[in-house]
Amino acid sequence: MTTTVSSTRPSSDAVQAPVPAPLQGATVLVTGGGRGLGATISRRLAVAGARVAITGRNEGALAAWAEQLPNDPVVLAADMADPEAPRALFDRAVEALGSVDVLVNNAGIGHFGASAALTAQDVDALLAVNLRAPLLLAAAAAAHMAGRGGGSVVNITSGLGETGGAGSVLYGASKGGLDAATRALAAEWGPRQVRVNGVRVSLIRTDASAALLDDEAVREGFVSTIPLGRLGTVDDIAEAVLFLAAPASAFITGQILNVDGGTSTTAPAPVAQD
Ligand SMILES: NC(=O)c1ccc[n+]([C@@H]2O[C@H](COP(=O)([O-])OP(=O)(O)OC[C@H]3O[C@@H](n4cnc5c(N)ncnc54)[C@H](OP(=O)(O)O)[C@@H]3O)[C@@H](O)[C@H]2O)c1
Repeated sequence: MTTTVSSTRPSSDAVQAPVPAPLQGATVLVTGGGRGLGATISRRLAVAGARVAITGRNEGALAAWAEQLPNDPVVLAADMADPEAPRALFDRAVEALGSVDVLVNNAGIGHFGASAALTAQDVDALLAVNLRAPLLLAAAAAAHMAGRGGGSVVNITSGLGETGGAGSVLYGASKGGLDAATRALAAEWGPRQVRVNGVRVSLIRTDASAALLDDEAVREGFVSTIPLGRLGTVDDIAEAVLFLAAPASAFITGQILNVDGGTSTTAPAPVAQD
């Protein structure tokens, strides 16, 4: 007897069909895309088919990284500490790429120390880069994307924005603020098909964290809190960004995805486990 009932199993033709690159033909702006996490993110999205624009303050270093990327990348030097820079940068990205389908707000700086020592200058300098710039960029991007039928914004946040940690009051406040902005922007722009999500990073080895992770006691102590038993990598983060950038996550918005090996959802066990 022949059956015409369809199966969830793909036909052999479908199995053999080439899988399209998830961001084929898309245009992407990655801030801080020339080094650290941003470099791996820009490479992953470019390999996934996108044409990327990468930003940072060092044009020569950006150009050197761009040579490693496929799909005719664009280099846009800008200092996000300048209040006018975010919107001007976004306009330059649209001019260079023709459009921006995906924005990855990755550029960021750290500040760790006792709260009593904080100055107004410290606060203003950090919030300018970690909160003001991504917020203004996301707002500009959302308006642009809405006019084109939709798009995706991915904000790089931190576990310290959620859980707190001694010495992280300023940095944590900036990332917690970015989490809140992510949810508010998702609510505002969802009706225009602009998705806004975050990737919440724990401790990953880059220039920013190398000194900390080179301390074996600190590193081993941190790894012992991670259920998956290892440090995350820049590739772990880039894969999560790709997912939130691409159509695979088309029904996901306003979410902050913890990419931390399970740390954020795990309390210390009351008894040792084998
Ligand atoms: N690594 C971690 O463990 C970790 C953990 C949680 C969250 N994060 C977040 O992940 C993101 C990337 O961090 P990372 O570890 O890759 O840091 P990184 O290696 O220090 O890189 C920081 C990036 O931000 C750019 N940037 C910094 N200040 C800028 C400014 N004023 N104007 C323009 N660009 C600026 C840098 O470019 P130039 O210096 O060339 O301008 C660089 O590309 C940050 O938002 C960070 O808060 C990292």
